[in-house]
Amino acid sequence: MAVRPLIAGNWKMNLNLANARELATALVAYMKQESGLDMVVCPPAQLLAPVAVCLEGSSLGLGGQDCHAQASGAHTGDISAPMLRDIGCRYVIVGHSERRADHGEIDAVVKAKAAAAHAAGLIAIICVGETEAERDAGGATAVVEQQLRGSLPEGATAANTVAAYEPVWAIGTGKTATIGDVVEMHAHARNILREIAGDGGALRVLYGGSVKPNNAAAILAAAEVSGALVGGASLVAEDFIAIANAAPK
Ligand code: PGA
Repeated sequence: MAVRPLIAGNWKMNLNLANARELATALVAYMKQESGLDMVVCPPAQLLAPVAVCLEGSSLGLGGQDCHAQASGAHTGDISAPMLRDIGCRYVIVGHSERRADHGEIDAVVKAKAAAAHAAGLIAIICVGETEAERDAGGATAVVEQQLRGSLPEGATAANTVAAYEPVWAIGTGKTATIGDVVEMHAHARNILREIAGDGGALRVLYGGSVKPNNAAAILAAAEVSGALVGGASLVAEDFIAIANAAPK
């Protein structure tokens, strides 16, 4: 089934105000003439509001990189899903492997954050993926299955949830999974999603991990890959646009 591709940029802890505005403006111009895909950028928290201004009237979506499971309260340094929604976000990434590693976020935490995102009317981009050691030990499919089952909240549908398969060893390393591995893992994820989500057959599953202009076409054409979650290459407008242009439409 053909799904509308989603190309998501995760800016992580990068860019200043001037760079962010410049990048957002270039992407808004691109999306003015591109209607065959969805695109979203996920700036760091302090850049969300100014980037939201650049995106006004554009189909380019805005997303947070994380949210708290609670809607408000005494949680210093955190940001909630309703706050993201309030400043114009439509998406939020949860369970990124850097959050799982740096902040000890286990599946139950990711699930609670995704549920908070849904409650606030946001689309949760829920990330899963195995480490190199897990893959070397032959456990990659089991890890991804456990993370999907543990991280998707009740009521997850294609309308409020996007899954992202990001092998941890491919993130920021320049290494990518082989197309065979991508196809195998996305087929596996699809089977699990059909089981656990009402319309799991329609839920978009992105691939992430060193997606670049030179490998994007092959990755995005792979079976059951509905788009890409891009880190490093999303910081350069021409690279991110080249990746979007490589998406089959
Ligand atoms: P990368 O990051 O494209 O820099 O590997 C991907 C991600 O972490 O989402």
